[in-house]
Amino acid sequence: MSERGQFTTRIGAIAATVGSAVGLGNIWRFPYETGQHGGAAFIAIYLLCVIIMGVPVIVAEFIVGRKTHKNVCGALRELAPGKKLHWFSGICIAASIMIISFYSVVCGWIVEYLTKAISGGLSSGSTEDYSTMFGAFVTNPYRSVLWTVLFLLANYLVLKRGLKKGIERVANVMMPMLFILLIVFCVNSLMQPGAGEGIKFLFSPDFSAITPRVAIGAMGQAFFSLSLGLSCLLTYSSYFKDSDSLVKNATTVAILDTLVAVLAGIMIFPVVFSYGMTPEQGPKLIFEVLPAIFQQMPGGYVLAVLFFFLLFMASITSTISMSEISIAYFSEELKMSRNQASMLNTGIAIVLGSLCALSFGVLSGFTIFGMTLFDLFDYVSSNLLLPFGGIFFSVFVGWILDRSVVEDELSNHGKLKVRVVKPLIFCLRYVAPVSIVIVFLYGLGIVDKVLQLM
Ligand code: TRP
Repeated sequence: MSERGQFTTRIGAIAATVGSAVGLGNIWRFPYETGQHGGAAFIAIYLLCVIIMGVPVIVAEFIVGRKTHKNVCGALRELAPGKKLHWFSGICIAASIMIISFYSVVCGWIVEYLTKAISGGLSSGSTEDYSTMFGAFVTNPYRSVLWTVLFLLANYLVLKRGLKKGIERVANVMMPMLFILLIVFCVNSLMQPGAGEGIKFLFSPDFSAITPRVAIGAMGQAFFSLSLGLSCLLTYSSYFKDSDSLVKNATTVAILDTLVAVLAGIMIFPVVFSYGMTPEQGPKLIFEVLPAIFQQMPGGYVLAVLFFFLLFMASITSTISMSEISIAYFSEELKMSRNQASMLNTGIAIVLGSLCALSFGVLSGFTIFGMTLFDLFDYVSSNLLLPFGGIFFSVFVGWILDRSVVEDELSNHGKLKVRVVKPLIFCLRYVAPVSIVIVFLYGLGIVDKVLQLM
């Protein structure tokens, strides 16, 4: 373990892990999912999912990673010798590469919009103009591929510098900046006339709006947002120090991630309502609606630049963490150098990411199971592999791993008093796997069929 990297400080470890969790999932997906699923009721269920499934599964991944200080494959081999469970690392690597591929396309859009904002290209036009602009951009074969590739190269530059000089340093700078910017945006949003309506939409739940579909959407969102199930957190926790408290780190990450999602809601909805827009715009909310709103505001130019910069910071710290899953594997299991491993990861992501970027234009007719490559990667990884990974980790730590290992890791070999062992194990054994199976069936479309019959 000695030649393996470790985060220098506890703050650095937390910043990197929060950096992984906080991403497009919080600032892009959470607001539009909330908008489409009726607001506060969705948020209430989301919070419940974070508490009863999110935190336990984070802790489960942390236990496996920090106990072994290894990548997912090595960790499973060490903790379950002879059980041949390391096949699961293949799923983690494949799924993480699928996620980077479609995720970096959206990151590419963000960089395009950042450059547009800087050059003043976002400062005039109606919502219709912005929707034409967005449509023209995503279908343009060169620009969207170009930005996806450039984004992945920036990602590579951080990765190849390694854990401390690359990942930890970037997170230490970007995370505080992200929080400050978010707060500035929230204050601005709350000062708009009629902001109260947006706040009401976010915080006064109409529990009759809860349908199974809302509940399931909230669960899927919680998993994606917390970077769960694909050993991303396992990999980062393998760089934690033995003196870190896993329960504390897990709750800090869950709280900060949730806080960012809620702040993103406060940043967006009051403005949306105040400018007479509707919240159900879906994925294009931040690319079509917000630019139209910014340019009507005083200081709109600066707001637009800062907003896309905020998104850029949030997304790159997440793609770094997705890449680290396979980089740790390539370098430890296949004995590649850090640079070779980062290059291999980036190379694969560039090929698949470019194909995903083209899914909106020239390859829009190329479909598998009726989905473009972009949609297929999103669907398979978020709806199928992620929940599957969640079940894997909760069952592995809840049922297979020796109870004494769990207690030992949670208490740092008896040095810390941990009172939550029992409820945690209960959640891992029963609550998490059963709830996730429901999400899983939903991903397969089975819940939809049952709901239709009801
Ligand atoms: N949590 C990140 C977000 O909210 C995305 C992410 C990073 C992720 N690493 C992951 C999702 C691993 C699933 C698995 O944007």
